[in-house]
Amino acid sequence: MGFLKVLGLATLLSTTVLAQAPKIRYMPFGDSITEIVCWRGLLQTQLAATGYTNIDFVGSGTQQSEAGCANSNYDRDNEGHSGFLAINIANRNQLVDWLKKNPADVITMHLGTNDIVQQNKKTEDIIAAFSTLVDQMRASNPAMKIIVAQIIPIAFGNYNPAIQTFNKAIPAWAVSKNTTASPIWVVDQFTGFSEITDLRDGVHPNAKGDAKMAAIWAPALSHAFDLMGEKATKREVEFMA
Ligand SMILES: *[C@@H]1O[C@H](CO)[C@@H](O)[C@H](O)[C@H]1NC(C)=O
Repeated sequence: MGFLKVLGLATLLSTTVLAQAPKIRYMPFGDSITEIVCWRGLLQTQLAATGYTNIDFVGSGTQQSEAGCANSNYDRDNEGHSGFLAINIANRNQLVDWLKKNPADVITMHLGTNDIVQQNKKTEDIIAAFSTLVDQMRASNPAMKIIVAQIIPIAFGNYNPAIQTFNKAIPAWAVSKNTTASPIWVVDQFTGFSEITDLRDGVHPNAKGDAKMAAIWAPALSHAFDLMGEKATKREVEFMA
């Protein structure tokens, strides 16, 4: 009894099963320079073109540049919050909730502009907020891969010296917070970014600026994804009876 059934089952199990690997969850996190921009779409296209198609952009928002983006057909999920200060996000534990709603494996952080421009916050206080945010990321996911930007310049006021002072403090801070389980990489979004030709309104990137930002994020993200066992499209799982 049951021989044919057993044989059938064995045949079924010996068939190679191609299982879709779980998607890597990537959260673009920041202020309006992450929320109302087009670099996220360009970044997605660039990642897909280099084999990283198994990436899920995550976050509670779906905004992009108010003027629209050349290609609007992409996963718009992101955790960019226009006008927000790193210091407030940290002190109010907002990232804790955001990561609870949308857990992530990899996160990029471009923050500090509003701290400097709106409230003239000191570098050391923004850096302290960064430490809190990194601790909160790791509480959510002990293996979180973290990419932190040295932030882009702006075109009004006289804030770029303060932005540069802040940017200069980021690498040593990142080394001090680095761990093997949850590495931090610093990317330089400032150098080579022109406040004259790469911004649409003095604060947010135009098409040229979006392209520059995407091109800086992409290799850092690829590196993080590689560490997690991607190229995502190449992973197959075989079940043999
Ligand atoms: C953190 O450590 C990783 C290796 O685990 C390394 O690739 C990365 O460059 C380090 N980050 C910094 C800021 O030194």
